[in-house]
Amino acid sequence: MARWGKFITFEGIDGSGKSTLLRNVYNALRRYLPEDKLIVTHEPGGTPFATLLREALAKKVDREPMAELFTLMAARYDHTKRKIIPALQDGKVILCDRYSDSTFAYQVFGKGIEYYTVARFNKVATLGIKPKLTLLVDVPVDVALRRLAEKGKLDHYESLDRSFFERVRYGYLALARRAKKRIKVLDGTKPPEEVLREAMRYIGQILELPSL
Ligand SMILES: Nc1ncnc2c1ncn2[C@@H]1O[C@H](COP(=O)(O)OP(=O)(O)O)[C@@H](O)[C@H]1O
Ligand SMILES: [Mg+2]
Repeated sequence: MARWGKFITFEGIDGSGKSTLLRNVYNALRRYLPEDKLIVTHEPGGTPFATLLREALAKKVDREPMAELFTLMAARYDHTKRKIIPALQDGKVILCDRYSDSTFAYQVFGKGIEYYTVARFNKVATLGIKPKLTLLVDVPVDVALRRLAEKGKLDHYESLDRSFFERVRYGYLALARRAKKRIKVLDGTKPPEEVLREAMRYIGQILELPSL
């Protein structure tokens, strides 16, 4: 059996620069790893069923926070069981745009669900899998909202109000303080190359890459 793979997640509020960083990390890692050793995925989504659930979540339809939580967890279970765990068993490096920390930041700090409720369901949905490393791209809410406005059309999450994103950002930073070893906070206001350089320092450590 192959050596157990490495699960790396990217977190931050909408517009913080997660997807940009993930793309840059992928390109940087391709210098060290063959294509079939690297998996790029995202949540909610990553499998056909979870992608359908993502489409429902993105619709601008009012919903009960708990109904939303169950939908996210259903998507996570499908994705974890069918894609993440098999890739880890194959010894792959997985780059995942959002995972459990998003649910704590958005559903607990943003929407007010009790922490232990999310923790309990999340344990089931993740089958106990935890990221080896989480890169939290942190930017002030103003910066993120300005970037989103430049992009144009906003979905359900992106069109929530400013105070919502302030709570989510605060939540992420609180999670990072409680898991210093796993969650590394990156200053997302720096230029993309600098955010990448800092991210690659942490990734280089966990992948044991030759000097980066
Ligand atoms: N470090 C950065 N500095 C300036 N602009 C950035 C940076 N990272 C991303 N952007 C821009 O901000 C916008 C949102 O970035 P994106 O990666 O899509 O964020 P997210 O995936 O977190 O929502 C995009 O237009 C992107 O080009
Ligand atoms: Mg994105």
